[in-house]
Amino acid sequence: MLFDTHCHLDDERLNGDEAAVLKKAEEFGVITMVTIGTDEKTSAAAAEIAARHPGKIYHTVGAHPSDVDRFGETELAEIEKLAGETKPKAIGEIGLDYYHDSNRQKQVVVFERMITLAKELSLPLVIHDRDAHEDIYRVLAAKATGLKILMHCYSAGAEFVDRFKELGCVFSIAGPVTFKNGQSLRDAVSKIPLDRLVVETDSPYLTPEPKRGKRNEPAYVKYTAEKVAEVKGISFEELADKTTQNAKKFFNI
Ligand code: NI
Repeated sequence: MLFDTHCHLDDERLNGDEAAVLKKAEEFGVITMVTIGTDEKTSAAAAEIAARHPGKIYHTVGAHPSDVDRFGETELAEIEKLAGETKPKAIGEIGLDYYHDSNRQKQVVVFERMITLAKELSLPLVIHDRDAHEDIYRVLAAKATGLKILMHCYSAGAEFVDRFKELGCVFSIAGPVTFKNGQSLRDAVSKIPLDRLVVETDSPYLTPEPKRGKRNEPAYVKYTAEKVAEVKGISFEELADKTTQNAKKFFNI
């Protein structure tokens, strides 16, 4: 049994096809998933999807760093309201994205405000970190003590594993671990303790091999899990069991 810790089931590439996507996930052994909010609209949509599938799909409420230029007080207040009212399993995705060109200062302000929200609600964090590892580390070390933290689509390489481990982070591994050019991620996976590992699709993005080029969906977390098991030198069954247990513990399921 597998647990996809990060998917975007509200995305138009998946949401017209919900029954088929879930049936295929089940055929691939993917029983539980967390659908992720990135703003006030997708967080509301994620909550509705989770409400239709209790015990199978859970959701988060978040404010994605790439969207900060669009976030005013109204949008942020709406996100806070959804977080308080829809019983999400975490606040996220939140964080910093220095790859896309949006206001970095404002990203930090929104990120810190979302950490405060998580503290008020005693919820874990799902972190988006793209080319911003040092600043992510700095903000988390300063503001997120006492909170559970999941590094979504971990990409900071082996050299950051120890530092994020010190903060108590869980590391979520996505499709790039299967890519030909994914060696630095595979090196990181070798360093991450088994009790801190989970897997995700980030579907509809980041489709793993051998499906690369097609739409991603939760079923395909199986390919990522197979590669992670190979890197860790353990059986697929053991990897599936451990990562599912870790995910359940992290999200309080
Ligand atoms: Ni995502």
